[in-house]
Amino acid sequence: MTKEKYSTLSTIPFISEKFYEKEKSIWKNSWLMATRESELAEPGSFVTLDIKGIHTSVAILRNGQGELRAYHNNCPHRNGRLFCDRSGKKAAIVCRFHGWAFNLNGQCQAIPEPQLFPGLDKNTISLAAISVDSWGGFVFINLQQNPASSLSDYLQGLPEGLDAFLGDRRWEWHTGYQKEFAANWKDLMNIQHEGYHASHVHKNTLGATFTPEESHNYFYDDSPGVCSRLTVLRPKAENMASLQMSLIQELSMKYGSTSNWVDQDTSRAADESKNAVNLDASDRFVFDCYTFFPNFILFVGTDVLSVMRVWPTGTHSADWEWDWFFKDEMENFGNLFNREHGRMATRNALAEDWPVVEWAHENMRSGAFDKNFVAADMEATVLAHYQKLLQHLEINEAELAQDYE
Ligand code: FES
Ligand SMILES: [Fe+2]
Repeated sequence: MTKEKYSTLSTIPFISEKFYEKEKSIWKNSWLMATRESELAEPGSFVTLDIKGIHTSVAILRNGQGELRAYHNNCPHRNGRLFCDRSGKKAAIVCRFHGWAFNLNGQCQAIPEPQLFPGLDKNTISLAAISVDSWGGFVFINLQQNPASSLSDYLQGLPEGLDAFLGDRRWEWHTGYQKEFAANWKDLMNIQHEGYHASHVHKNTLGATFTPEESHNYFYDDSPGVCSRLTVLRPKAENMASLQMSLIQELSMKYGSTSNWVDQDTSRAADESKNAVNLDASDRFVFDCYTFFPNFILFVGTDVLSVMRVWPTGTHSADWEWDWFFKDEMENFGNLFNREHGRMATRNALAEDWPVVEWAHENMRSGAFDKNFVAADMEATVLAHYQKLLQHLEINEAELAQDYE
């Protein structure tokens, strides 16, 4: 796959109802990032995940032996919901509907009024297990009991050391954002991993930090689950001088590296996190942005992680989630100020993306154009995700126009 030339992409995968139906298999076959391991620290702690596009709710938990387990959030009796909260802790799993009880390994332990089920042996009944594994402190699930690839094969190609860097227990979750959009889930992916729009949509916020010269894309064509990495560097010192920075931005830069306006020298990232972040050992490193197929984008900075996931709710609607992780190692008020400034600056920039992505999706539906242009390099992350999509579905371009319009 060449990334040196512009490409054209069909609009069909973004607007076709037929394609959306076909696409459902992706959610049933891919490894999906569900939560952080730190959310499942204790035996009995659980997190639920609703994959709305395929009417599937999943519960992920830690059993009494300290192992991760995941089940359909669905009772074998008559499909009652087992876990009704977003997260919590349970010693046993008791169905809300009629009270069938299961242990944390999914085995049925008790049926209320068992005489009503003569001949039914509870020992033969268990929850519907699904696959679960973790990498970098992130817990992934796969609805298949025997997925086509293990999680480590799925994530092949990632830099050595990233797993340990991300798995550091000091990363703590901080307030995240959620929103529903009138757009296809892939539109929301694409606006977050291409830097081409930044100097336009984000002209007055962070545009100056994303320039073609300082944004570098890398591609993982042979990896089943990793699409691309975008590395963003701060402009060179001579170009920084011409930037119109506010006093707040200048102050923030001075005290840390959790905003896109970072301190002057971030080369320490190369020493402390060797082989994990700042792979080019640049003293102008800001962040790496990894795109995982299908719906997970991870921004990795020296002192901040941000995580985006998108979940389709229809062809033309999707739920969007953004989460923050910081290491709470602040030494002074300046560090706290830098962290909060980073968070607010990014929130403001994200809010600039929102109308743009919905307008573009609505326009796509007009049918004025049946294909679009994607820039070489700066937008090639869009192409990488699109190609992974067609690969997973085993569809070629000709079939797209023929079968899915
Ligand atoms: S549906 Fe779960 S006990 Fe009836
Ligand atoms: Fe943006």
